[in-house]
Amino acid sequence: MNKHRALRNAFGQFGTGVVIITITDPKGSTLGLTVNSFSSVSLDPPLVSWCLANDSDMMTRFADTDRFCVNILSAEQEELSNAMARPGTHELEPGHILASASGGKRLLGALAHFDCRVQERIKAGDHIIYIGYVENADCAETQNAPLLYFRGGYAGLA
Ligand SMILES: Cc1cc2nc3c(=O)[nH]c(=O)nc-3n(C[C@H](O)[C@H](O)[C@H](O)COP(=O)(O)O)c2cc1C
Repeated sequence: MNKHRALRNAFGQFGTGVVIITITDPKGSTLGLTVNSFSSVSLDPPLVSWCLANDSDMMTRFADTDRFCVNILSAEQEELSNAMARPGTHELEPGHILASASGGKRLLGALAHFDCRVQERIKAGDHIIYIGYVENADCAETQNAPLLYFRGGYAGLA
């Protein structure tokens, strides 16, 4: 097995949740990107991080924005996760979105939302690490299970 494959496989042993990062484009549409590199970073100040691949078509669209919203997906949102992981417009239908008071584009049905201001972009190999300052965070009133990702595929809670 080549080194690259071995590394991917080893990374894949780390089970994660799945989030969609949403932003507003200059025309006012909401764009989404499926990501599993999300992590909580700091409580005080409140910081989160996630990584964007340098070869993503979304690079320029994220470079142009100073805000994003992190939406933690529920197990019911696998289809939306797949849709926002396909190259293309990454445009979300208005029916999926609720704007927060601070202008964050929140995905309906997500388990939690973090409205963030871009605090830092750090070049790191073939990705850019986005650090977000969390201006607002909340949990949805749902007992739905999370969408999980493990060994290159979706997984359920054991
Ligand atoms: C479960 C899952 C997790 C992903 N995590 C990331 C990630 O952390 N960072 C990233 O840049 N892309 C990630 N992707 C891939 C992007 O969603 C995908 O490359 C992108 O949507 C492809 O279109 P683009 O070239 O327009 O970006 C992930 C995809 C899936 C299905």
